[in-house]
Amino acid sequence: MCGIVGYIGSNPCVDVLVSGLEKLEYRGYDSAGVAIVRDGVLETRRAKGKLINLKRAIKAEPTDGLLGIGHTRWATHGAPTVDNAHPHRSGEIAVVHNGIIENYVELKRELVGHGHVFASETDTEVIAHLVNHIKTARKLSLVDAVRAAVRRLHGAYSIVVVDASEPDVLVGARLASPLVLGFGTDENYLASDVSAILNHTRDIVFLDDGVLATVRAGSVTLTDIETGKEVEPVIKRITWTPSMAEKGGYKHFMLKEIHEQPRAIADTLRGRFSLERCEVDLPEIPVTAEQLQNISQFYVIACGTSWHAGLVGKYHFEDLAGLATHVELASEFRYRRAPIDERTLVLAISQSGETADTLAALRDAKARGATIISICNVIESSIPRESHGTLYTHAGPEIGVASTKAFTTQLAALHLLAIRFGHLLGRLAPEGVVRELEALLHVPAMMEAELEREHDYASIIRSWHQVHSMLFLGRGNLYPLALEGALKLKEISYIHAEGYAAGEMKHGPIALIDEDVPTVVLNPMDAHFAKVRSNLAEVKARSGPVLTVATDGDAEADEIGDFKLTVPDVPETVLPLMMSLPMQLLAYYMADFKGTDVDQPRNLAKSVTVE
Ligand code: M6R
Repeated sequence: MCGIVGYIGSNPCVDVLVSGLEKLEYRGYDSAGVAIVRDGVLETRRAKGKLINLKRAIKAEPTDGLLGIGHTRWATHGAPTVDNAHPHRSGEIAVVHNGIIENYVELKRELVGHGHVFASETDTEVIAHLVNHIKTARKLSLVDAVRAAVRRLHGAYSIVVVDASEPDVLVGARLASPLVLGFGTDENYLASDVSAILNHTRDIVFLDDGVLATVRAGSVTLTDIETGKEVEPVIKRITWTPSMAEKGGYKHFMLKEIHEQPRAIADTLRGRFSLERCEVDLPEIPVTAEQLQNISQFYVIACGTSWHAGLVGKYHFEDLAGLATHVELASEFRYRRAPIDERTLVLAISQSGETADTLAALRDAKARGATIISICNVIESSIPRESHGTLYTHAGPEIGVASTKAFTTQLAALHLLAIRFGHLLGRLAPEGVVRELEALLHVPAMMEAELEREHDYASIIRSWHQVHSMLFLGRGNLYPLALEGALKLKEISYIHAEGYAAGEMKHGPIALIDEDVPTVVLNPMDAHFAKVRSNLAEVKARSGPVLTVATDGDAEADEIGDFKLTVPDVPETVLPLMMSLPMQLLAYYMADFKGTDVDQPRNLAKSVTVE
């Protein structure tokens, strides 16, 4: 996620903006900029890379004023360049934006038709031109022009807008992306994140979706974007320390990122399908129906959690597209002489885009003629740069070393890609496309509800935090989730854990079962329900403690296991998404109870750029 800071008041603000952006650096970014209204003139300074570059740009060409906005950009549309850095301007209007504008292509076409000239590849720039266009054409105030403009935007946004011709007002609006308002004395602030303004004020309003903020030095008015009716601000006194503020009030980044998943998944799906046309649109993946029909091999290569995502993807590609899929650990694949030719398709999955093994395997396959596509969370990182096409997840920067939102957005992206391939190959009829999309679209809201149930974990953790070893069992597309549950637990709690396909129990791991080795059994009501329940009974018969992760309403699970967590009754193709939450939260609470360093576990790095 990008970072926003805005200021209006009686003091020169460039330092407030830059120091606010510094407080947002922990979120990750690849360019930054400010726009300041100085003596009725709009001045922008922008730079690629770290804030030090922006500071240099400001030092080289000083600017300051009583009204301004600043931004750190995490690239989603367009490379991290100066031209793509925010603020974006149209005439004397400048805008900073977090989120994704789904209909920017149509809006851009319309605005170009009206004579607007675009200087960047971003979706954000359309907002600046749209506000300017509406303001001029309809002779409106900035506030009314912003209100009219945001009503035409589809997608997610938090924006802050300034206009040099109205230097007494700062305008903000939000929809599905956070924006907070901070109150000072003869000065007020807007920011994407409390931490950016905590040094100046602790009186904060967390703006609701659909609210427009008209902010002046001495007053603030909130109105509903649609109706124009005034909304009463609910001011909260924030007592967080700066470190708590960075984590949005959560104890760890990992927990914050677990809670960000509904939004991250919605952002990853946004603008990539049409229910009316029964289609998934992925122009970034240049694979044709003809190419898919003639594929010799389809390999998915990845490491760690991304490999687990790939294993779930195998079920999607085989079920929805009928595509035989080989999911490979990149560290092994790179040293094998697997059959590869010009008809081979390789999908590399990596949240960071820099994992050395995945990159080396990709290069080797590419050199041997394969077409390379990738799923990645970091725009312009090495893996996308060396791929023929990349489907970006829109998880925003992930700071916790243990991957959570990057994983579930990979699952959503893989599902979209499999629907697309299924459609291209004629394996998925329009009704099937709609069925899969609707299942995916319900996930964010269901995750929100599941995240409310955190107290369910307390008794499990109290009983099990001292165990030395655990097993995770799953079957079908939940086998990879058993692997992921075990990986999460060992990464952050240092408890030894193994994930197994439930059917493999009797081929070895059952020998480990006794009263000191708990087993987590992923046993929702799916096609494998009865078989997995038998596996569960086998564990109980050997005195093994059991946590059953069952479907809501499965009363028998209470009797047969020692503990129960539940997931909602959802179509099987989205069960791995819903099952991710109990896997992540179990590991998180276990580690937190033990007091380990959840966000920076020992011996691990966020981006593994060495072999
Ligand atoms: O950046 P990548 O997705 O390529 O990283 C792959 C693994 O290093 C990564 O998933 C690792 O296993 C995480 N720590 C898992 O939480």
